[in-house]
Amino acid sequence: MNKEKRYPIIAGNWKMNNTPNETANLLDEIILGLKNPACKVIVCVPFIDINEAVNKTKNTEIYVGAQNCHFESKGAYTGEVSPFMLRSVDVDYVILGHSERRAYFMETNEIINKKVKSALKAGLKVILCVGETLKEKEHNITEEIISMQVKKALYNVDGESLDNITLAYEPVWAIGTGKTATPEEADDVCKMIRRTIENLYGATKSEKISILYGGSMNSKNAKDLLNMENIDGGLIGGASLKSQDFLSIIEVTAN
Ligand code: PGA
Repeated sequence: MNKEKRYPIIAGNWKMNNTPNETANLLDEIILGLKNPACKVIVCVPFIDINEAVNKTKNTEIYVGAQNCHFESKGAYTGEVSPFMLRSVDVDYVILGHSERRAYFMETNEIINKKVKSALKAGLKVILCVGETLKEKEHNITEEIISMQVKKALYNVDGESLDNITLAYEPVWAIGTGKTATPEEADDVCKMIRRTIENLYGATKSEKISILYGGSMNSKNAKDLLNMENIDGGLIGGASLKSQDFLSIIEVTAN
């Protein structure tokens, strides 16, 4: 399978932005501007916006995702939300392993692995993020760091479950900084991620899995990034908060 056969995915990661009212307004604008997208469109919203987002996107081509979940299905975990609870309100996707969760909430590869398995078991699709820090890049250990993140997050995840996982390569130094990896740089790492998947699951699975790029993707640089052989879409932070910017990135996938 080559790139043409992997359907592109454009996912917005709203992070800690937008009240339910703001969610309704932003989604109204996006829905109005969305005309037969040539990609799958996902918006990953804060927990309190899920209800609004699910209602607004009913009968549209937009899927709703969460940005985190716990690995247990219920119990005494104050402040947490389980994958099972997310499914119960019709959430389709969850972002796991985002570098902000790793850095600010001490999420280790082991915790991420537990969350991945639990989310898949509950019937969620997972957007699994990996990425190296600037220091790791400067030490020339990007490959080691990322293959370890992939292998640990997918420990004991079987090949059938892998079909419900999308990977996202997000270099930490490119997130929210305005610094984007060059298309070649990003493609090299995504290719290496595909090779890691091939070693774990075989060539058919590695050709099939979608790998997104994330980190300061915007309407100007999206085309060059999305044209690369191993980049199948984008995980968009800042630019997903403005309907016009988000829609322009979605439009790029049509060309
Ligand atoms: P950014 O965020 O597009 O604002 O860099 C991407 C992400 O963190 O998913």
